[in-house]
Amino acid sequence: MNAEVRPAQGSDIALILAVEAKAGRPLPDPSRLATALDDESRLVVVATARGTSGVGGLLGWGKTHFWAYDDDAAPAGHYLGGITVRPDSRRSGIGTALTQARLDWIWRRALEAWYVVNASNIGSIELHRRWGFVEVARAPSFHTTTFDGGAGILMRAARPTTPE
Ligand SMILES: CC(C)(COP(=O)(O)OP(=O)(O)OC[C@H]1O[C@@H](n2cnc3c(N)ncnc32)[C@H](O)[C@@H]1OP(=O)(O)O)[C@@H](O)C(=O)NCCC(=O)NCCS
Repeated sequence: MNAEVRPAQGSDIALILAVEAKAGRPLPDPSRLATALDDESRLVVVATARGTSGVGGLLGWGKTHFWAYDDDAAPAGHYLGGITVRPDSRRSGIGTALTQARLDWIWRRALEAWYVVNASNIGSIELHRRWGFVEVARAPSFHTTTFDGGAGILMRAARPTTPE
């Protein structure tokens, strides 16, 4: 993988929006991204081409989300809160690196990590398999995420007993 992962900065927000646009995904609210960057209970990371600062564009980004309360089957805790890799940079390990960085951060704070995924998103489900995520529940929505097609999966992984 010819990319580096680092915590996101305010100057990355426009580049994150560009990644979402390139991927044809709904654009996040910039002010909510800025709030996430300042939130000590969350991590936002970006991947840049090795040796560049991100000028010319980010290759991908991801964030975590901390839910302070349960929502039926979805408990309070640290969640992987979304990841996008630029379409022209996929299948080169960037999604793996962005996820490893977020999980390393979560494992310093918790024994379990969670994420929710549309049941039809095979790429995402396959990506997360290597960390041992297992299905806990299915529902049309978890916390504030509602799934197109009506089927979402709640996944859980346990902190490894030895560092990866
Ligand atoms: C899911 C996503 C982040 C993967 O990013 P990526 O950089 O391509 O992931 P990696 O290169 O690290 O892939 C690691 C492994 O995940 C699995 N994987 C990734 N994408 C896959 C796909 N489309 N189909 C099947 N398996 C896939 C493979 O096992 C892959 O290993 P391999 O390339 O050696 O076969 C990317 O496809 C994406 O941005 N998708 C759109 C946004 C999205 O769906 N986000 C997840 C929301 S929960």
